Amino acid sequence: MEIPFAESFRIKMVEPIRRSTREERERWIKESKYNLFALSSDQVFIDLLTDSGTGAMSDRQWAAMMLGDESYAGSRSYFNMKKTIKDILGFDYFLPTHQGRAAENVLFSVLVKEGDVVPGNSHFDTTKGHIEFRKATAIDCTIDEAGDTQNEYPFKGNVDLEKLEAVLKQYPKEKISFICLTVTNNTSGGQPVSMENIRGVHTLAKKYGVLLLFDSARFAENAYFIKMREKGYENKTIKEIVREMYQYADLMTMSAKKDAIVNIGGFIAFRSEEIYRQATTFNIMFEGYITYGGMSGRDMNALAVGLDEGTEFDYLDTRIRQVAYLGFKLDEYGIAYQRPAGGHAIFVDALKVLPNVPREEFPAQTLGVELYLESGVRSVEIGAILADRDPVTRENRYPKLELLRLAISRRTYTNNHIDVIAASLKNVYDRRNEITRGYKITYEAPIMRHFTVELEKL
Ligand code: F0G
Repeated sequence: MEIPFAESFRIKMVEPIRRSTREERERWIKESKYNLFALSSDQVFIDLLTDSGTGAMSDRQWAAMMLGDESYAGSRSYFNMKKTIKDILGFDYFLPTHQGRAAENVLFSVLVKEGDVVPGNSHFDTTKGHIEFRKATAIDCTIDEAGDTQNEYPFKGNVDLEKLEAVLKQYPKEKISFICLTVTNNTSGGQPVSMENIRGVHTLAKKYGVLLLFDSARFAENAYFIKMREKGYENKTIKEIVREMYQYADLMTMSAKKDAIVNIGGFIAFRSEEIYRQATTFNIMFEGYITYGGMSGRDMNALAVGLDEGTEFDYLDTRIRQVAYLGFKLDEYGIAYQRPAGGHAIFVDALKVLPNVPREEFPAQTLGVELYLESGVRSVEIGAILADRDPVTRENRYPKLELLRLAISRRTYTNNHIDVIAASLKNVYDRRNEITRGYKITYEAPIMRHFTVELEKL
């Protein structure tokens, strides 16, 4: 008999979670104005809101925490981080920040000017927020395949090089802050960018004299997909693939809460000493002195170990197979999601699962609330609420896809939890003909409204 696959870790510490009743959940979600962010974690059984900062650290990371050096300036922990970034990613200059959006804030303060454009592949919401906040425009050049959830294209995170070149031709290079390449592409479904595409984007960046920034939150998962799917990479280690990917980048912003498997932390890495020096001033103003940037020494130590562990094949294989397992269960039940399964999450196609809810009534949010009511599983809407209003016309933006993201935390849940998630979705799907109405917005913030939006059931 073939020996089945099993996780590349065993469990040393556990945290109890509690089931609730449907009556309790009905009360709690109503009190939360149908915004899943407003629930307290005790009201959640399985939390798929995000994979950000919610993973389980290893024994090696906890040991590194104890060795954290809390000196204000020049701490050993800073130098641990510096050495790891140089070894794994190849950058000489870096600044620690407290998380990814802080890295964006500091770096974009140097590079993004009013009236600029930032082409890329489906900018993450905080990235777009930091661009639009500076009265610049994010231009999405993702390939069209990403807009069809049933297309099995293996690199749906890719940039359409023709769309990108059209933007690079249209604007003078002084107006282009940089090209922003998100690896993996979170918004399009945790979908990877191929090495070939990375190379193509790099060639265009050089041709037009524009900087290339990698938004790197899930860069190791991207490298795993290159190894598994791209010809010529099957025998390379993840670390070799990562080194090649980053040869093509001028800059990176990192939310270490994902692929560095820490609960908090981030950084910016630079090829250019000059941009590093300019960013230093903003880092000191917004984050902290340049050798801690809003992080404690112990957190920097855990981050350094996490970068090393997060770029090991066995860890990534366990992680991404678990996400794929959820995909297989949904296949069994006929539930449509962004195919093939992504790196950190399954993105359920809400327009296909709840076909009777009008777009103006937010089908993905409706599905998220129904899933929560079913069994206390918390997910997140990646649809029209997240897309915000157009900054100029103030009209609602309806993205091509209306998705419900089921983000899987690293090393946190077992496949029994995955079975609960899949069965709960199946029950909602079985009731799809009875679900015909969604929600209307009763309160929203002017930007990034999804965090604090309040809704009323229609
Ligand atoms: N870039 C990407 C691709 C992200 O997914 C995120 C965060 C950030 C930047 C910002 O990093 O949260 O550390 O400030 N994504 C989380 C998510 C929040 O749920 O996908 P941060």
